[in-house]
Amino acid sequence: MRKQILLGTIVSMIGMSCMHEAYIDPNAPVNPPVIVTNPTSNSDTVCFNSEILPLYSTYCGSSGCHSAASHRSGVDVSSYAAIMQGIRAYRPNSSNYYTIIGNGMPPRSSPQLSSTQIALISKWISQGALNTNCINSCDTSKYTYSNPIQTLINNNCIGCHGTKPGSGNVYLGDYASTKAYITANQTLFLNAINHSTSLTAAQRMPPANKMADCQIAQFSKWITKGFPQ
Ligand code: HEC
Repeated sequence: MRKQILLGTIVSMIGMSCMHEAYIDPNAPVNPPVIVTNPTSNSDTVCFNSEILPLYSTYCGSSGCHSAASHRSGVDVSSYAAIMQGIRAYRPNSSNYYTIIGNGMPPRSSPQLSSTQIALISKWISQGALNTNCINSCDTSKYTYSNPIQTLINNNCIGCHGTKPGSGNVYLGDYASTKAYITANQTLFLNAINHSTSLTAAQRMPPANKMADCQIAQFSKWITKGFPQ
């Protein structure tokens, strides 16, 4: 029953230009987590936890849309099992949580995924849509806005904080606004990205996942060194 409603809604969202069938796999496999250490140094594996989940969370899961709490149209993108409801392993073009990107979702008024981000999702599906849980390393001697802070924001925050006023009235859409917000709210900002228990669960950012420790360290350095461009 719920499946039919979801199919109907997706078909009507796609509307006239129904170039691809809406497909929900009732037997979508829930792959066990695969732990990958330092994936960039030894493999080409796309990391579900640190690369794919944040994209779905930020571009599709803003509050009122497809978060665990609101899951509009029955769509929830807050976990691996939930995302797999719309993904067919090895077949991006048969995965409607992939094909709908740029074809109606995210809504035109919301921030859109870049072609690089869309290609990464396609690659992840082509690799079998594994529940890869990567332990990431990154270079904490790099901490400027152009590299890597802006990319971290684009991959983890921009879907919810990229159009004014932004969720919770936090707008992180450009350098000046981000710097101004953090300058005025430095402790809150650091507590939010550290998922500090002094905050409510809803205030821990990003909501669906915590960034890797070294990425949080890059943010901290960027702030304490005076927001280098
Ligand atoms: C899925 C949507 C979503 C994503 C992704 C997201 N946020 Fe948020 N953010 C929210 C919402 C909703 C609130 C308001 C929470 C509240 O006040 O309870 C919020 C509030 C905040 C706050 C203020 C907390 C407070 O108590 O006022 C900060 C700082 C913040 N976000 C930073 C970030 C950063 C940095 C990222 C990326 C690393 C990020 N957010 C990713 C939805 C999101």
